[in-house]
Amino acid sequence: MLAKFCKKPPWFVLLTLCVLAYLSHRSSLSYFTIPLNSRIAEGVDTEQSSRHDFDTKGVDTDQSSGYDFDAKGVDTDQSSRHDFDACFGRYIYVHDLPSKFNVDILKNCSYTTKWYSKICGYMSNFGLGPRTKDSGKVLQKRSWYATNQFMLEVIFHNRMKKYKCLTNDSALATAIFVPFYAGLDVGRYLWDDAGFYRDANSIELMKWLTEKTEWKRLQGRDHFFIAGRITWDFRRRTDIQSDWGNKLMLLPEAKNMTILGIESSPWTNNEFAIPYPTYFHPTRDLEVFGWQSKIKRTKRPYLYSFVGAPRPKSEDSIRSIIIKQCIASRRKCKFLDCNGKNCQNPVNVMSILQRSNFCLQPSGDSHTRRSIFDSILAGCIPVFFHPGSAFVQYIWYFPKNYTKYSVFIPEKTLRDDTKSIETILRAISNSQVRSMREEVIRLIPRITYADPQSNLETLEDAFDTALRGVIKRVDIIKKVTEDRTNDSVEFLEDKQMIVKQWDSFFRQ
Ligand SMILES: *[C@@H]1O[C@H](CO)[C@@H](O)[C@H](O)[C@H]1NC(C)=O
Ligand SMILES: *[C@@H]1O[C@H](CO)[C@@H](O)[C@H](O)[C@H]1NC(C)=O
Ligand SMILES: *[C@@H]1O[C@H](CO)[C@@H](O)[C@H](O)[C@H]1NC(C)=O
Ligand SMILES: *[C@@H]1O[C@H](CO)[C@@H](O)[C@H](O)[C@H]1NC(C)=O
Ligand SMILES: *[C@@H]1O[C@H](CO)[C@@H](O)[C@H](O)[C@H]1NC(C)=O
Repeated sequence: MLAKFCKKPPWFVLLTLCVLAYLSHRSSLSYFTIPLNSRIAEGVDTEQSSRHDFDTKGVDTDQSSGYDFDAKGVDTDQSSRHDFDACFGRYIYVHDLPSKFNVDILKNCSYTTKWYSKICGYMSNFGLGPRTKDSGKVLQKRSWYATNQFMLEVIFHNRMKKYKCLTNDSALATAIFVPFYAGLDVGRYLWDDAGFYRDANSIELMKWLTEKTEWKRLQGRDHFFIAGRITWDFRRRTDIQSDWGNKLMLLPEAKNMTILGIESSPWTNNEFAIPYPTYFHPTRDLEVFGWQSKIKRTKRPYLYSFVGAPRPKSEDSIRSIIIKQCIASRRKCKFLDCNGKNCQNPVNVMSILQRSNFCLQPSGDSHTRRSIFDSILAGCIPVFFHPGSAFVQYIWYFPKNYTKYSVFIPEKTLRDDTKSIETILRAISNSQVRSMREEVIRLIPRITYADPQSNLETLEDAFDTALRGVIKRVDIIKKVTEDRTNDSVEFLEDKQMIVKQWDSFFRQ
């Protein structure tokens, strides 16, 4: 039909039309075939209908996350340059640190202390750890790893190496990344009689940094680094050797930088909590959509569960109350005791979390736990007992209104024995449970660290969200610094406003 048309005069007009028709036909064809092929190639089980739910909601981070990234502080005058350079305003410069501050700490793994040698096995696959073995029944076949909770520094550094807007021109960069493995560094000495050797690398790092021209520009206030252990491991206030931790975060240089840690101190303004690494490290958007629709459909026979270890030595711990109640609830609750090796296999952990409606997240040695992110990944609604576990922590990640995705039972309620966990959870209606679970499932891309070997196509992962927070913060710092008439510290208040709401819990 097309060929017949083309033979007719005036031939050049028709030929042009034919070529155009052919080209548009071709491009529309490939538009439809590419996603289809790649879905088959991936072998990912996706439900097309539910895929659409998450397609849009999964990336819509701003509305609910309590952090308004687009408003104030961003320099709009320069938006015209933005048209030409998609990276404008997002460039990151990475300091080329001497290897003793990062990769050497990994290399000597098995030579060092007891704790440290335990995590040697988790350093493979760019910090993701060994791949899990699972038939696909509990997890998916690809992109699941037995990731250790303390590997964030390595994972983040490797993700950064693939970041699309890296620059070698530090003057062009919005923020400067310092790839120091702070937690792995101090982790080597925490349980050993290493004296103040624990502080040595931190102090040397600061000396190295402050001599650079990059530091001198803003005294380090555009610098940031990752702390893959909780903040209290870096805040030794005394000079008593037997006291816990090093003093990295108390060094004046560290106070000028932005610190992204798995658990931050509520009282500081330069520290922001970002998710613990969990087991899922997708390489493509489709793997995320596939997982979301899988756990949306799982049967959840347990009303609630607790995956964790008792703290028999700590009389204060509410874990013993929780375990007692769980056992008393019989088949409605599942307790997986993490003393011993039960919880080292992600299949054991995930299979319980994804069969539970609610997952208890009590404080342990500190307020936060990695399990918060495992449970979100499993589509299980987290139950918190202290605001320090999440509400004042992951403010760049979770909705401001905590009732949308979680349940809060103050520790006092359990200690006073006024109402049982089961009673409280059973009082929540099915439709509320459903809407909370949907919100939890929607959070999955944002709390997941994608495989450092690839970038997700459209979804923002935990790394992207962290960078957004840093860039916004540094933009405001720069603006306030330039505008000398404005001595306001308003930009620091977002976190403090939230902490203030929960003040009474922190004064106890
Ligand atoms: C100071 O800067 C902050 C952050 O950019 C801004 O919100 C505030 O309105 C400024 N205050 C004055 C008095 O200009
Ligand atoms: C590794 O440990 C050995 C023994 O403690 C030490 O001599 C060596 O310098 C260390 N190497 C690195 C790269 O840290
Ligand atoms: C920065 O410089 C290094 C070493 O010359 C080079 O390997 C790298 O590709 C450069 N990165 C960018 C983003 O230009
Ligand atoms: C930290 O920043 C302040 C300015 O805000 C500056 O006065 C101070 O010297 C800086 N500290 C270091 C160690 O660079
Ligand atoms: C928080 O969300 C719940 C629904 O999940 C809603 O009923 C409540 O009004 C919200 N609270 C605020 C302060 O927006």
